[in-house]
Amino acid sequence: MLFPYQIKSEEAYHQAYKQSIENPPAFWSAIAEHFTWKKKWDDVLTWNFSEPNVQWFKGAQLNITENLLDRHLPTKAHSPAIIWEPNDPEEHHRVITYQKLYEKVCQFAHVLNNNGIKKGDRVCIYMGMIPELAIAVLACARIGAIHSVVFGGFSAQSIADRLYDAQAEYIVTCDGAYRGQKDIPLKSVIDDALIGNRTVKKVIVCTRTRTPVSMLKGRDVWWEDELKKVETLGLHDFPAVAMDAEDPLFILYTSGSTGKPKGVVHTVAGYMLYTHYSFINVFQYQPEQIHFCTADIGWITGHSYIIYGPLSAGATTLIFEGVPTWPDAGRFWEIVDKYRVDILYTAPTAIRSLMGFGLGPLHGKSLASLKVLGTVGEPINEEAWHWYNEQVGKKRCPIVDTWWQTETGGILISNLAGITPSKPSWATLPLPGVQPILVDEKGEEILGNNVSGNLCIKTPWPSVLRTTYGDHERCRTNYFATYPNLYFTGDGAMRDENGFYRITGRVDDVLNVSGHRIGTAEVENAINMHAGVVESAVVGYPHDIKGQGIYAFVIYSGAHGDETLSRKDILTTVTRIIGAIAKPDKIQFVSVLPKTRSGKIMRRILRKIAEGETENIGDTSTLLDPSVVEEIKRGKL
Ligand code: PRX
Repeated sequence: MLFPYQIKSEEAYHQAYKQSIENPPAFWSAIAEHFTWKKKWDDVLTWNFSEPNVQWFKGAQLNITENLLDRHLPTKAHSPAIIWEPNDPEEHHRVITYQKLYEKVCQFAHVLNNNGIKKGDRVCIYMGMIPELAIAVLACARIGAIHSVVFGGFSAQSIADRLYDAQAEYIVTCDGAYRGQKDIPLKSVIDDALIGNRTVKKVIVCTRTRTPVSMLKGRDVWWEDELKKVETLGLHDFPAVAMDAEDPLFILYTSGSTGKPKGVVHTVAGYMLYTHYSFINVFQYQPEQIHFCTADIGWITGHSYIIYGPLSAGATTLIFEGVPTWPDAGRFWEIVDKYRVDILYTAPTAIRSLMGFGLGPLHGKSLASLKVLGTVGEPINEEAWHWYNEQVGKKRCPIVDTWWQTETGGILISNLAGITPSKPSWATLPLPGVQPILVDEKGEEILGNNVSGNLCIKTPWPSVLRTTYGDHERCRTNYFATYPNLYFTGDGAMRDENGFYRITGRVDDVLNVSGHRIGTAEVENAINMHAGVVESAVVGYPHDIKGQGIYAFVIYSGAHGDETLSRKDILTTVTRIIGAIAKPDKIQFVSVLPKTRSGKIMRRILRKIAEGETENIGDTSTLLDPSVVEEIKRGKL
């Protein structure tokens, strides 16, 4: 059997779970034996959550790309590794076999090497969803450089912040990217991000849209020119650089409740093992299947379940450049039929948005190839779950509701497709190796069933974040200090009589907008950059499609009295500082914000108002001036 550790029955799940908890080193090392190592480990696991210091497979050496590529060549050289569907359905799609992908990754590894990039260097990747993005990521891993992919929707300012935080000296980008009807001028955004930057030495630019770009002499080079140099020399292999198990593989920035985004760091061995294990078990991947994860590679979902998980299993991964609603809302279904997709993994927000178009876009689509459906990124409401089950899965396909985070690297709580039971809107049971617990405000464990509390994890799984780049203390205070000796997820959860978990959402000041994490403080900081803004407070409110919408209360003293124009100005500012994804859905101008006597904004009250609550606003007696609540309520949008 290809994957002897693939769980094939509910009973086997319980058995694997028990083993994984009783003896984690024995459990994970048995799986690790199936991978290619340059040197085996001395210790499977050493850890404490107080620093935190977690080390898996200490002493081992490996290169993750040998496990994703070289390892499969004897049997899969001619099998498709990547199928690429372009934005425009009229443009030709591409199929890249494992042999071809291996060669392309090796060649680009030479390009990186020729441009002075070496092990440990940070490479910022800002590209659209083209195969070259996956190639750039893997080439970094091949030479041991640390990739930091930044989602193509982030602004120049966001990139500049991330470049600075990671002290990145290299960038790989594209001239532009296509998304639906839009052309996004990526290189020009990079140029803006680099104004005043003295750290970046090289920018490698891949051609996609042929948008005119300006190339800075000595700094900017074309991907294609650099590749030609390598091809002329006939180079097809690049020896995989030996990495320590705990060497960083990548940094991925994500929002927290305070300040600027944090650079979550994942390391080579543990991340490889866990993304592989969770991929084959949650989705019940079978050889030859085609896996279509609709996320962008700029988010953790894309890292783990477009690139690393599927390729580690020798699967065919589908990369889609476009958006679900262009040229029409049947695009996903067309792609499923065109390539006979087996596994479809998407976000509830996409499902809700497609539901809104009715059944028309599904007409004439067979969807008969689908075997497993998945959701990720936010709680799925029952209505969307049933629509997905009935209209897409035709009631034949198990749905996996996968709960996890950028920090967890891979799926921690989910049913296993067709193996363990599903329950609409419940993520259900933890994967082997994962010990969730619920705690109350004081950190006391809440035992028993039919309870709810704050979700923590008790012990390390292989792909737990190791640090936040350049600031380990921030990692400790954010995740490991709220409740001593526990990893705190920031989520609230319920546990039912079967021990199933339902994630109810964030309990901190982090919003989940269309499955994207956005910190309220980050949005406030961006709004406050606008010259006319005195102060602002941002909260989330329920949104039919996005899950949560962004509601901003703003004290404004801008010059022109035109509210529509002022709103537009503020939105432009947020787009410039963070990116369009963080634009508030509603901006209410207020003359004061509800504050306590010590000057703290009472968000609880604003949240209630934004949610449309008129009666039960809660206790306002601690407010400096309780009458402001009435005024704000009257102005509610
Ligand atoms: O609140 C949870 C929600 O998304 C957060 C993690 O966001 P991010 O790091 O961007 O990663 C998203 C993709 C893994 C979590 O703290 N979340 C994620 N999956 C689910 C979910 N909420 C409910 N159900 C899920 N399946």
